[in-house]
Amino acid sequence: MRGDNHSESAEDQRTAFYNDVVAGLSQDQKTLPCRWLYDQRGSELFEAITDLPEYYPTRTEVSIFKQHLPAMAAAIGEQAHVVEFGAGAGTKTRLLLDALVAPKSYVAIDISADFLASSMASLAAAYPSLEVIPRVGDFMQTAEMAAMQLPEGNRLAFFPGSTIGNLLDHEIITFLRSVRAALDNNDLGEDGKFLIGFDLVKSEDILVPAYDDAAGVTAAFNLNLLARINRELDGGFDIDGFTHEARWNEQDGRIEMHLVSRREQTVGVNGDTFSFKAGETIHTENSRKFKMEGFRELAAEAGWTFKETWTDDQDYFAVSLME
Ligand SMILES: C[S@@+](CC[C@H](N)C(=O)[O-])C[C@H]1O[C@@H](n2cnc3c(N)ncnc32)[C@H](O)[C@@H]1O
Repeated sequence: MRGDNHSESAEDQRTAFYNDVVAGLSQDQKTLPCRWLYDQRGSELFEAITDLPEYYPTRTEVSIFKQHLPAMAAAIGEQAHVVEFGAGAGTKTRLLLDALVAPKSYVAIDISADFLASSMASLAAAYPSLEVIPRVGDFMQTAEMAAMQLPEGNRLAFFPGSTIGNLLDHEIITFLRSVRAALDNNDLGEDGKFLIGFDLVKSEDILVPAYDDAAGVTAAFNLNLLARINRELDGGFDIDGFTHEARWNEQDGRIEMHLVSRREQTVGVNGDTFSFKAGETIHTENSRKFKMEGFRELAAEAGWTFKETWTDDQDYFAVSLME
């Protein structure tokens, strides 16, 4: 496994986290960017979420991969250089790598530094002939992503898990453009491909429990953000003073996660104070549910064309190869 000198330092990350907390908790609708849900504990809780009976996205997307990976691999071609955004445990990556013919390298970008280090050490051990390059960072630093130097050759961007659904429309377009720039950033004039998974609109009865499970794992995942502020930023959140809520926002086609203050309270973070009314919320995550055509239009605006799309029998989830 190769070290990477472009990774963000722990100190840079702490400063960025602190700035986002102060800015987000100072707004009328308090908000915290969902990338901060993923520290070591958050990444472990996310992995537990993927096994929950209510959480259909992971098992549905994996079933699409298992059925269609031979066709995907044929369309991608041999000797791919793979770059993944939000690699997490790399479970789906392994399915992809097993299907590809002679993949050459794998750049894994994730914001969760320790979790990335351990999951990539185990992936590198399992694929000794693959060059594995973990890179700690925020894929929404789009100028940095666009300028990223990737190995020359058959480049493939991989973005499963509907992580794209955490972004707003204008962020999706900027992000997809930055990926295009990163893949085109070579002297050979070769175009890259992009394999992306995205979640589709479905009934609220299925959506809400997927983000508010009976065992309370998603609640623990959401509340861990407050515990993380306490741990890393000298915060004074009483975790029991907040509850988890998942809401379907029909108009914007998204599940929203919120942390709801149980009572009027004031919380200190590293010398700043923030007041909460009873029932006031911190908006912590959006998970967009796309219509196929709507997603295709967003991708087209960023210069991507759909080559092929695979879905499950119930049309719950889609995986597209774009070029
Ligand atoms: C929904 S999980 C998906 C994980 C995995 N790709 C999958 O499909 O199961 C999102 C992943 O992206 C990472 N992540 C979220 N926001 C990020 C950001 N802005 N920059 C880099 N990584 C991010 C998280 O740490 C997490 O591993």
